Amino acid sequence: MPIIINNEDKTYTLLTKNTMYQMKVDVCGVLEHTYYGPVMEYMDMHYGVECDMGPCFSPNPADGPDGVWAYSYNGINQEMSCAGIGDFRLTAMGVRNADGSFGAEPRFVSAKTEKGKYSLSGLPAFYGDKAETLVVTLKDKVHDVYFHLYYAVFEEYDLITRSIVVENKTDKSIKLEKAMTLTLDLPLGTYDMVYFHGRHTRERMLERTRIRHSQVSVASMRGASSHMENPFVIVCDKNANEEYGAAWGIGLVYSGNFLISAEKNLQEKTRVIAGINPENFNFEIEPNGEFACPEVAMVYSNEGFGKMSNSFHKAIRNNLCRGKYKNAQRPVLINNWEGTYFDFNADKLVAMAHEAKKMGVELFVMDDGWFGKRDNDCCALGDWVPNEEKLQGTLSQLAKRINDEGMKFGIWFEPECISEDSNLYRAHPDYAFAMPNRAPQVSRNQYVLDFSRKEVVDNIYNQMVKVLDGANISYVKWDFNRHITDLYSVALPAEKQGEVYHRYMLGLYDLLERITSRYPDILFESCSGGGGRFDMGMLYYMPQVWTSDNSDAIDRLKIQYGTSFAYPVSTMGSHVSVCPNHQNARVTPLQTRGNVAYFGTYGLELDVTKMTDEEKAEISRQIKEFKSYYDLIQHGDYYRLISPFTPDESLYCAWETVRPDGSEALVCAVRYETDANTAAEYVKVKGLCKDKLYRINGSEKTYLGAALMNIGLFLKYDFFSYPSRLYHITLA
Ligand code: GLA
Repeated sequence: MPIIINNEDKTYTLLTKNTMYQMKVDVCGVLEHTYYGPVMEYMDMHYGVECDMGPCFSPNPADGPDGVWAYSYNGINQEMSCAGIGDFRLTAMGVRNADGSFGAEPRFVSAKTEKGKYSLSGLPAFYGDKAETLVVTLKDKVHDVYFHLYYAVFEEYDLITRSIVVENKTDKSIKLEKAMTLTLDLPLGTYDMVYFHGRHTRERMLERTRIRHSQVSVASMRGASSHMENPFVIVCDKNANEEYGAAWGIGLVYSGNFLISAEKNLQEKTRVIAGINPENFNFEIEPNGEFACPEVAMVYSNEGFGKMSNSFHKAIRNNLCRGKYKNAQRPVLINNWEGTYFDFNADKLVAMAHEAKKMGVELFVMDDGWFGKRDNDCCALGDWVPNEEKLQGTLSQLAKRINDEGMKFGIWFEPECISEDSNLYRAHPDYAFAMPNRAPQVSRNQYVLDFSRKEVVDNIYNQMVKVLDGANISYVKWDFNRHITDLYSVALPAEKQGEVYHRYMLGLYDLLERITSRYPDILFESCSGGGGRFDMGMLYYMPQVWTSDNSDAIDRLKIQYGTSFAYPVSTMGSHVSVCPNHQNARVTPLQTRGNVAYFGTYGLELDVTKMTDEEKAEISRQIKEFKSYYDLIQHGDYYRLISPFTPDESLYCAWETVRPDGSEALVCAVRYETDANTAAEYVKVKGLCKDKLYRINGSEKTYLGAALMNIGLFLKYDFFSYPSRLYHITLA
């Protein structure tokens, strides 16, 4: 039973294979959060959050227990924290009542379980028949404002998801001024936050900081989750590492503005909140209306980050990604972007496809530049009409030419943006976000479409359908190459402008749902100037993301390593490109470029017609090798072995994928620093059977699993720049 309702103790307990989560209704009907940690026999865990500290300027609720000064909203570990009622900590929910007062005191009404996983109308969310749902309903002490707290338990993956649906049963409109999903009050302790910051071509750089009494936050106000922060953090014991210590992974299933924030309060308790960023947000709920907060996904591990990541990887692969490709072998693709940029015609693309096919590539992707007069990035976004001059015929004819080469055909779209120099903008300038009397800001020479308006979404939907129905298209890359400014919708009155960011996301999700469900056979890859929207929201619609516009194998080590804390390799678009690399001019061996791209979707992004015979032979070898390891890489347990963020500890970055039964593993080690006369290095392998014997790359010599896991694997040093090796470990 993953959910225990104990009406005597008034506790509600969620159980996964290894974790337990508990809440309890207290004397006043407040839902307290009492525990989230390792699984144990059922008991009422309330003693673990009791606190006899005096008031410290913390007020007591009017109906609080007589004489108990310590009873304050400002001290209680709460399952849902509300602003305006004397909780001076970080709070998640802010309700502006019809009378103008700001605050709500949620009190327990009921709790029930439901079979299967709850869903959230219009929002991405984990799914699964095997999950179970708990719904706890709270109601404001005064007004008929209800808070339905949804929890789903995925026992196998130690995954717990949460959402809140706010329901207005009063006869007047109310406003949510904050609608953050997560309040998580942790047991007393000293914690760090691990988070993944970045910028274009440097996404998801790992950083770690102590959570002290000042707020530690990661956030986006860009209208997208962004390259700069990722809506995923790990809150962990101060000593936690890959193998050791308590770690709570917290991810938002949302792609827009977000805030994840933590602080220690005056009682030395740590609170974490996560959800939609409250800045420039408020949302009206009409009488009998509802508002659903985006889902938060949580995994607790008491064995450090490695185990937590593995749980997220499995859950994302099996219960978040959808469609025929979520677990299927993805075709090896070639994308023409770095090979040609805008400078191509159909003959050029067909020539590339012809060469690529010979090496074993299966899908040809035509990137930006195929529509309107788009020979540079100054025009034509919004006009999704094939440029038949450039394509030397119709799109359908080009698709056929590529198909005739024995390859599938895919194309690029940027559905959410519009160029000033486009027919769509000339006809409907109001379709782009712009504030009254203020010229909108351009970014990459383009504006953002107002997807809070259904007619705008419909226009783009109809254009996309026309293209996708008109040619044999097997793949779509969905890009978004700027962030939102000038937020203002002409379709909404002044007092509802605070809804636009979120309504934009709802419009985008609606378009994604309509397009992806209409074309179940198309493989969709998400992109936003590379990895600017690598989040669980997008993965619900598209099972892979172009991880970064940086295709340099050495920079990719940090990017893919950082990405792996939450997201599985099956979601990481990774291509072999040309050297000197277009983003940093680095020259790396082709083999190293391949080895790094194997731990992702593997593809090519270069002009294959310009490659030497030797290079072509190497790519053919790589495609065969990648395919032979495909199942192991995509479905094995992934472990980070040596971090690329610690050059003072090792000159290598290493990661591994291992079959869950320990029968086979593949280790990839890349040397990213070159110094003379360095010491020998070993890497400790994970997940093997300790008393079984293994061979490495078919070696005569055999090694005990325990030895490979405790002494490690000797990393052979090849005397050239940026060498890398794969170590295939099989049972002897
Ligand atoms: C973005 C993408 C690139 C490419 C270009 C095309 O930058 O990340 O891969 O598609 O747009 O304009």
